[in-house]
Amino acid sequence: MENLYIPNIAIIIETRKETPDIKTFRLSFKDREFQRKFIFKPGQFIELSVFGYGEAPFSISSSPNQHDYFELTIKRVGNVTSALFKLNNGSAVGVRGPFGNGFPIQELENKNILFIGGGIGLAPLRSLINFVLSGREKYGDLTLMYGARTPKDIVFKEEIETWRKHIDVHLTVDVGDETWKGTVGVVTVLFKEVDVDPKDTIAVMCGPPIMMHFVTKELLKLGFPENQIILSLERLMKCGIGICGHCNIGRKYVCKHGPVFTYKETKDFLESAI
Ligand SMILES: Cc1cc2nc3c(=O)[nH]c(=O)nc-3n(C[C@H](O)[C@H](O)[C@H](O)COP(=O)(O)OP(=O)(O)OC[C@H]3O[C@@H](n4cnc5c(N)ncnc54)[C@H](O)[C@@H]3O)c2cc1C
Ligand code: FES
Repeated sequence: MENLYIPNIAIIIETRKETPDIKTFRLSFKDREFQRKFIFKPGQFIELSVFGYGEAPFSISSSPNQHDYFELTIKRVGNVTSALFKLNNGSAVGVRGPFGNGFPIQELENKNILFIGGGIGLAPLRSLINFVLSGREKYGDLTLMYGARTPKDIVFKEEIETWRKHIDVHLTVDVGDETWKGTVGVVTVLFKEVDVDPKDTIAVMCGPPIMMHFVTKELLKLGFPENQIILSLERLMKCGIGICGHCNIGRKYVCKHGPVFTYKETKDFLESAI
């Protein structure tokens, strides 16, 4: 039987700087056959080890349609992430997974989708957005609301511009600068700019807990049914496979039952979850 605690070796093949403290790492498993068979859903995550430092969970930010490699978009915050930022292309890391349930991609078909991201929370949404765009005809109207702290903190800047061909994109920053001509304010200010029909739209969000709290409130006010509000949650994790109990919220393990939940599923424990 496969031992889910043993990581597979992956090599960093490319690194892109997104913001002063966020990088996108392109990785490919050393075993080419394993890479070819590495199948995941948008919204799933992996456990990444930087040898000698430790392991941490990260969402896969590339589309599952890309089979030669996968990407992680990572913010430097502490021990593992700082060690990772010091590695060069060609370095080896350990990867376990993919874990978690991922976004309910089948349920999104024939629906309008409202993507809502905050900061690094755009990472799992990028995987979903690029997956949806590769089968654009299967979905209705697509809208993105994305907020970052400052213009310098916006991730995937060039890619967002390419999304505009297919997606109604709305950006905001908490604090502008001399280069910024767009909206200033928290993500919820963007609700004034978008026109979505709650009946046929599924809202999918990922971002800081405080953002998801206020966005959920706003969506409910607009009349979104509870099962059409989808959240990707984060919790401190260890095993990633529903064994250690580190990531529990109420009766759920975020690593196993999530990280993607509908508001309907989480509302009993939502106040502690977001
Ligand atoms: C399912 C899932 C998906 C994730 N996807 C991404 C991603 O795509 N990109 C990304 O940059 N990060 C992501 N994270 C968060 C990432 O796992 C943490 O930033 C990482 O574990 C920090 O490791 P570290 O050793 O560098 O920091 P540490 O030295 O462990 O911690 C530094 C600080 O960050 C806090 N912290 C650590 N982990 C978390 C967490 N999960 N939630 C809140 N605070 C935390 C610690 O309490 C501490 O204050 C995800 C987390 C989960 C659970
Ligand atoms: S991280 Fe161990 S149960 Fe979720």
